[in-house]
Amino acid sequence: MRRALAIGLLSALAAVGAAADTYPQRPITMVVPFAAGGPTDVVARIVAEPMSRALGQQVVIENVTGAGGTTGITRASQATPDGYTIMMGHMGTHGAAPALFKGLKYDPAKSFDPVGLAAGTPIVIVAKKGFPAQDLKGFIEVLKARGPAINQAHAGVGSVSHSTGVLFNSLTGAKPTLVVYRGTGPALNDLMADQVDFMTDQIVNVAPQIAGGTIKAYAIATAERSPSLPDVPTTKEAGLPGYEVSAWNAVFAPKGLPADVRAKLVAALDTALKDPATTKRILELGGTVPKEAEAGPVALQALVEREVARWTPVLRSAVETNP
Ligand code: MLT
Repeated sequence: MRRALAIGLLSALAAVGAAADTYPQRPITMVVPFAAGGPTDVVARIVAEPMSRALGQQVVIENVTGAGGTTGITRASQATPDGYTIMMGHMGTHGAAPALFKGLKYDPAKSFDPVGLAAGTPIVIVAKKGFPAQDLKGFIEVLKARGPAINQAHAGVGSVSHSTGVLFNSLTGAKPTLVVYRGTGPALNDLMADQVDFMTDQIVNVAPQIAGGTIKAYAIATAERSPSLPDVPTTKEAGLPGYEVSAWNAVFAPKGLPADVRAKLVAALDTALKDPATTKRILELGGTVPKEAEAGPVALQALVEREVARWTPVLRSAVETNP
């Protein structure tokens, strides 16, 4: 009996080992929890291409939208942890969501095997090009004067655009009507078509439109101006120093990956982010490339824990002061 058990155990271990040795044997799905064309999708496609080359198998993007990104992340968190389902999460799904999204079906700090940070994405306050204000102070005055007559776009409770918008409204006292989209890609289309008034969004989504003049940027919420948007003032320069916030996008896998499989995913992302063509595309869009100390699974786990701890009290009080 004992001999049979030992043989069974050894062959099971050998099977796992063999699986890891030959991983990946087929395409890998990367779940993007927002609509195609938005910032999460853009960052995902930028890194998926070089990761595919590094892994020798296609990393295929699957957009699974809804509920502020939590639908897609919940589905990916429940996938078999075999390395064939990974996801692009971000500061919303893996930082702000626990504070704002009731009944979250995953724990950002416990339900995943972190793979690594993909890009930092500063937040920009953007409005339709015809918005009647010349600067951030004037913009805030109009928001406060017109209240719910102003429409603010976001991508669902707990998303980056929602959480950074809630923070912006609590700091300024604005009380706009919130309009939800399946991602800030579709929201941007409506902003360019004057169908919605403003949003706080990730720079990688809006930088080309700001440069092209099809939308207006009032400020960027970082301490320094972005090299890709040199004419956009910081919130501090524009008179709202308390609003400094940056988002980030990162690759996760469902909890329980075999160690060798996880190592291959971590190495593939690392290779992708060391490829000058990849970093050029992230920087061109105003994103930031992870520094060595920010890269990899250990740093990402620490970032998630810090962000959940940071955003929970901030957003809960923001909702209380400006429901
Ligand atoms: C998107 O990719 O559409 C955005 O990340 C949505 C958001 O988090 O605001």
